[in-house]
Amino acid sequence: MAGVFEPSANLIAKAALLVFLEVLLAGLGWWFFAPRTDYASAVGWVLDQPVPFSHEHHVSGLGLDCRFCHTSVELSATAGMPATETCMTCHSQIWTSAKLLEPVRASFARHQPIVWNRVNALPDYVYFNHSIHIAKGVGCQSCHGNVGKMALTEKAQTFEMQFCVNCHRDPGPNLRPKEALFDTDWHRTAATPPPDALMAQYHIGGRGLTDCSICHR
Ligand code: HEC
Ligand code: HEC
Ligand code: HEC
Ligand code: HEC
Ligand code: HEC
Repeated sequence: MAGVFEPSANLIAKAALLVFLEVLLAGLGWWFFAPRTDYASAVGWVLDQPVPFSHEHHVSGLGLDCRFCHTSVELSATAGMPATETCMTCHSQIWTSAKLLEPVRASFARHQPIVWNRVNALPDYVYFNHSIHIAKGVGCQSCHGNVGKMALTEKAQTFEMQFCVNCHRDPGPNLRPKEALFDTDWHRTAATPPPDALMAQYHIGGRGLTDCSICHR
């Protein structure tokens, strides 16, 4: 019994307390600072997906349009994810025994959709709508980067409030002609209509686009 109160035990108890405090401090530090780093918001990081789907191959390589798979992007708030049937229009003919595509075939056979991990997400208290952005001349690239060059889909923006508000304050320079909306490798050229002309063409203006109630309803 007496051993418990020997100096060495005291030392161990002190050391244990110190380790505990250090872990606690490190934990608190992570909690305070981590959410502000690109590590936590995962810009440029890729997620594990059930199938290693490549936009680079399907978009840049095969020339498929975004709307072939994200069918509701012009029509509704969400872009939508492709049904397995969409993949099978090709993969019932090509790469039919590829191991990589086993989850696609299983999904098709069992009539169960593939569950993709979400790359981009906003908190519930933010209202967002894809269709209005496409209708008003904002291309996918402005928010999702050069998807056509991504072997695995990565997040291009953290979607902090500042990112949205910066464009809402002055959308003109970010607008593009209709034919460039789905081109993820587009740049302004001398032939591109100036920002004011695009603002007029898309009838933008006269609304307080930075009003809190636009995005928080
Ligand atoms: C052949 C079908 C197909 C085409 C064409 C396609 N996508 Fe995708 N897209 C997918 C699939 C499958 C996923 C889910 C896997 C992933 O995240 O890579 C996805 C995911 C995404 C995501 C991430 C969604 C999330 O979880 O937040 C974005 C952004 C995206 N696509 C944009 C585009 C853009 C922009 C285009 C056109 C340039 C395009 N896609 C064309 C099939 C397609
Ligand atoms: C228009 C036809 C077509 C559609 C639709 C299509 N694919 Fe493909 N896919 C191909 C071709 C062709 C290849 C071979 C590409 C290569 O090697 O360059 C391929 C290759 C792949 C590969 C192997 C890895 C790679 O990218 O080379 C995976 C995984 C894949 N597709 C998944 C999917 C999924 C998931 C869908 C549905 C969301 C889909 N594909 C829709 C034609 C298609
Ligand atoms: C103004 C910015 C912006 C533009 C432009 C934009 N997106 Fe998105 N996208 C987002 C945000 C933000 C999310 C996450 C939405 C959420 O969590 O509710 C998202 C999510 C997605 C998703 C995941 C599924 C969904 O609908 O939530 C896909 C797929 C996608 N976008 C494809 C596209 C395609 C294709 C285009 C171009 C036709 C496009 N996006 C244009 C901001 C944008
Ligand atoms: C590159 C420019 C750009 C970016 C980035 C952008 N927006 Fe927009 N947003 C616009 C334009 C242009 C309009 C249309 C304005 C109009 O109709 O006059 C718009 C309209 C909206 C609307 C109004 C929808 C409606 O039905 O009234 C909402 C909500 C919105 N954006 C939310 C967001 C959110 C949230 C983000 C960030 C995740 C974002 N936007 C990022 C350019 C942008
Ligand atoms: C164009 C869209 C947009 C407008 C306009 C906007 N917000 Fe936000 N707001 C967002 C987005 C997106 C987030 C989520 C940020 C994140 O996830 O980090 C956000 C987050 C917030 C948060 C949570 C804390 C934070 O900063 O992340 C508060 C509080 C907030 N907004 C208040 C406001 C107020 C007050 C206004 C008006 C002065 C306003 N917002 C206008 C898009 C907007």
